[in-house]
Amino acid sequence: MCGIVAYIGDKDACPILMKGLQRLEYRGYDSAGIAMLNNDLHVFKIAGKVKSLETFIQGKETHGNIGIGHTRWATHGEPNNENAHPHLSENKNIALIHNGIIENYDVLKMELKKRGHTFNSDTDTEVLVHLIEDILRNENISLDEAVRLALNKVVGAYAIVVLAKSEPDMLIAARKGSPLVIGLGEGEYFLASDATPIVEYTRNVIYMNDENMAIIKRDSFSLKTIENKVQTPYIQELEMNLEALEKGGFEHFMLKEIHEQPNSVRDTFRGRLNLEKGEIRLGGIQDYINKLSHIKRVVITACGTSWHAALIGEYLIEELARIPVEVEYGSEFRYRNPVIYEDDLLIAISQSGETADTLAAIELAKQKIPAVFGICNVVGSTIARVTNAGIYTHAGPEIGVASTKAFTSQLVVLNLLALQWAKIKGTITNTRFHEYIQEFSTIPDKIKEVLKSQDKIKELAEIFKNRKNFLYLGRGLNFPVALEGALKLKEISYIHAEGYPAAEMKHGPIALIDKNMPVVVIATNKTIYDKVLSNIQEVKARKGIIIAIVNKGDKVISEVSDYVIEIPETEEIFSPMISVIPLQLLAYHMAVLRGCNVDQPRNLAKSVTVE
Ligand code: AGP
Repeated sequence: MCGIVAYIGDKDACPILMKGLQRLEYRGYDSAGIAMLNNDLHVFKIAGKVKSLETFIQGKETHGNIGIGHTRWATHGEPNNENAHPHLSENKNIALIHNGIIENYDVLKMELKKRGHTFNSDTDTEVLVHLIEDILRNENISLDEAVRLALNKVVGAYAIVVLAKSEPDMLIAARKGSPLVIGLGEGEYFLASDATPIVEYTRNVIYMNDENMAIIKRDSFSLKTIENKVQTPYIQELEMNLEALEKGGFEHFMLKEIHEQPNSVRDTFRGRLNLEKGEIRLGGIQDYINKLSHIKRVVITACGTSWHAALIGEYLIEELARIPVEVEYGSEFRYRNPVIYEDDLLIAISQSGETADTLAAIELAKQKIPAVFGICNVVGSTIARVTNAGIYTHAGPEIGVASTKAFTSQLVVLNLLALQWAKIKGTITNTRFHEYIQEFSTIPDKIKEVLKSQDKIKELAEIFKNRKNFLYLGRGLNFPVALEGALKLKEISYIHAEGYPAAEMKHGPIALIDKNMPVVVIATNKTIYDKVLSNIQEVKARKGIIIAIVNKGDKVISEVSDYVIEIPETEEIFSPMISVIPLQLLAYHMAVLRGCNVDQPRNLAKSVTVE
């Protein structure tokens, strides 16, 4: 996600824009830019944080009382000066900023190139401003009508603001799938991705609705749909303070990011999971897809939560595509002189794309094999750049040190990869493939349903907040989920917790069980349900306390468990994306009740760029 801000009124716009971008930097910070309209349209943009832009604009032509600003979280195109927003039309008379993903930008770009347009960036956004100009060029219509017609050609998500030399007293804004807020001042208007840049100037805001556009002048504004239907504005009064607004009204970034998961999971498969065509398309590795048939083994390397995602990736790729997979800690792989075959594929998973151990593992593998993929969340990160190809998770910036939405987005990518590979190899039938992708599309809503059980999970946290130890058990795909649940609890509440394969308990750890040991069991398995039930009974026989995550409507395991959290049923391969949610919430609420610093836990960093 990116940060958008705009101003029209009688004040000097530049300081307002720059302060607004600082407030929005948590939404994206790999490049930033502003466009100011005085006698001419001036665009100032640069790779780096807002601070770099501040330095860059010193002494430049930034006066004027109408302007737009943008701080970027790259989705298409590396973070560099050319790809930074605002983007200009061919004739440099129109500037546009955008938050979202234009899925059909490549088709639109080809058409525009045939009509003589030239492009300076690799972004989807630049295509939109050229499309607006192209429509204006060919029809005698107003700027806002050209914007409206252009948006009707766009597939995907957008929040945009347009500024043009031809309309020095006008801002045009529109949104679909990405947020945009209008601030109503005295003879001045503000636009922003959320209310944080606005609240210090006015508390009267309009949260724009999807497929709505606004035409804003110094002394008036109008709202309509992109179908040209006039809309009545609903003006609200902001009650939240600035800090609360940055966190979207949540107490911590981690909680905000847990609740973002229905949207971030949808953003990860947006443009990649096509139900109408019944296909999966992974642009980042499309050139390699047909070469995958000669791959005999996959090695997945990662650290921490990403390593847990890798373990789930192992199950998915072996189960669906029937290709053997090895999972390696980056820190172990880099030093143990591993056996690497020339027809291996190495996949590195990393939210930050900067983890030193994972990077070192990649460099080792690259000495022996050509095929090295990256699954990263930060576009243009080191791992994204040093791997031959890759798939971005598009989860948006993850600010909380404890990884949540990045993890579920990693699982989305691994499911997409395993399913597409299985389809190419014919290791699953077309019918089964279509059943899977239909169910895949329901995951965001199923995650949303689990989030509703937050109060029940909070009660559990209240009961167990002072325990010293926890066990997390799971079998099959749920074993890595158990590891992830234990890590979440450890890293933010500082309670010792261990994830274990449920069946392994009898080989030693069951000695730990007594009436003081809470045991969280992820018990959503269908194929080995009875085995998980037996493991639970073994724990109960030793007075252990069972907290079971079960499929909705489960009777048997629920009956023998002390506490039960129900989650919506789904295909087994998708279940970790849902069963991890209650574990994230349990860890979060335990940490809050214990007064821990949830977003910046002690001793930890968001990205471990050292050995
Ligand atoms: C997870 O909650 C932790 N913050 C940590 O284990 C993290 O997953 C690990 O450091 C790997 O980071 P990466 O995904 O950015 O490579």
